[in-house]
Amino acid sequence: MVEIMVKLIQFYSPRGLKLSRAENQYVWDVDGRKYLDCHAQYGSLFLGHRNPKIVNSIKEQLNLIYGAYPAFNTEAKERALESLSKILPKKLEYVYMFNGGSEAVELSLKVARKLTGRKKFISFINAFHGRTMGALSVTWNPRYREGYDPFPWEVKFLPYNKVEELEKEVDNETAGVIVEVIQGEGGLNEASVEFLKAIREACDRTGAQMIVDEVQTGFGRTGLLWAHQIANIKPDILVAGKAIGGGFPVSLAAFKTELGEKLKEGDHGSTFGVNPLACAALTASINVLLEENVVEKTAQIGRVFKESLEELKEEFSEVVRSVKGRGLMIGIETKFEPTQILKFLQDDGVIALRAGKLVVRFLPPYMITVQDIQFITETLRKILSQVKEDKIAAKTTT
Ligand SMILES: Cc1ncc(COP(=O)(O)O)c(C=O)c1O
Repeated sequence: MVEIMVKLIQFYSPRGLKLSRAENQYVWDVDGRKYLDCHAQYGSLFLGHRNPKIVNSIKEQLNLIYGAYPAFNTEAKERALESLSKILPKKLEYVYMFNGGSEAVELSLKVARKLTGRKKFISFINAFHGRTMGALSVTWNPRYREGYDPFPWEVKFLPYNKVEELEKEVDNETAGVIVEVIQGEGGLNEASVEFLKAIREACDRTGAQMIVDEVQTGFGRTGLLWAHQIANIKPDILVAGKAIGGGFPVSLAAFKTELGEKLKEGDHGSTFGVNPLACAALTASINVLLEENVVEKTAQIGRVFKESLEELKEEFSEVVRSVKGRGLMIGIETKFEPTQILKFLQDDGVIALRAGKLVVRFLPPYMITVQDIQFITETLRKILSQVKEDKIAAKTTT
C-alpha cells in the first residue's frame, strides 16, 4: 500500500460522510445508511442522481468520441445547440458552454466590459457569482474577497430590492448590472418583480447590459423554466450552470443578438468548453426536463413543501422567523445560527445546506415525493422541539 502523502485543501468544512452510491433523490454512505439528498451537489443534481437517460447519453457518447477541441464540429455539439433552442429565451441566440458557473459569469462580464467599453459594474449586497477573479469581483461576501484585490474593474454593491438606489447608481459609465433572481448563497432572498423591471429599465436607459445569473435558479428549479420569467423581462445576457448538465459539469452564457454578433475569434476560449460529453449530458438533461414535465412538477411539489414549512413556522415561531424561496429552492430562516440543525438533520438522514447566515436551505432533486417532504418536516419538527426546549431552558437559567 502506498502511503497517502497528498492532502486535499480544506476549502469546505467536511460533512463527515463518505458516500458510496446514489439513485434519484437518495444517497448511501459506505456503511449502507440512506440519506435524502437535499444538497444534491449544490442543486446541480436537480434531475436526480444517475438519471438513466443522462447516464445512457453520456455512455453512448463515451463510445463514440469524448474529446474534441471546440474548433471541431461534432454531432453532440449540433444536438446540444438544437436542444438549447427549445429552452433559451428568444433572442438569446449566441451561446458558449463551459464547465462551471464562475467561468460562464466570467465571460458575461468580459463581454459587457469589452462591448460597452465601460469599466463599472453594479452588483448587490449578499450576491454570489463565483470565485474566479471576475466572478469574485461581483460577489459580495467579504470573507471570500479578502486578500484578493485588486479586482479587474470597479464594482458597486447596492442594496437588493431597492429601486431608488439602483436608479441613482446605474449610469452611462456602467458596463453591466448582474443579478440573481433569488440570491442562493446570500440567504434565499427573492428579487421583487418591480426591482427586476427597474434593472431592465435602468439598463435600457443607460446602455448597460443586464446580466441575469441563473446558475442556481435556472432550469426549472424555482417552478419556472427561468426564474426571471416572473417579471416578464428579457436579460441581455443569461448565465446558467449547475442543473443544466444533470450533474455533469456544464455551464453556459447566452447573449442577445447585438452582443453575440460582435464577438469574434480570439475574444475568449476554453479547452474543455463545449466538449462532446458535456454536450451529450446537456442534450439529455434538456430532453428529461421537457419530456418529464419537470418544471410543472417542481412548481407543484414546491407548493407542498412550502405549505409544510409554513406550518412548521407557525408551530415554532419562537425559533423560525420565515419560510424563504420558491419551487425546490426553499428553506427556513431561523432566529439563531443553524449549524446544529443541519448536523441533526444529517444525523437523521436528511442532507441540507445553509444559505446566508441563518437559512437552512433545501435543493432536492425534482422527483422528491410528498412522503419525502413529510419525512423532512417530521425530522425538523423533532429537532426544532428540542431546540425550542433548550432555548426555553437557557432563558430560564439566565
Ligand atoms: C448564482 C451563482 N452563480 C455562480 C456560481 C458559481 O458556480 P460554480 O461554483 O459552478 O463556479 C454559483 C455557485 O454556487 C451560484 O450560485
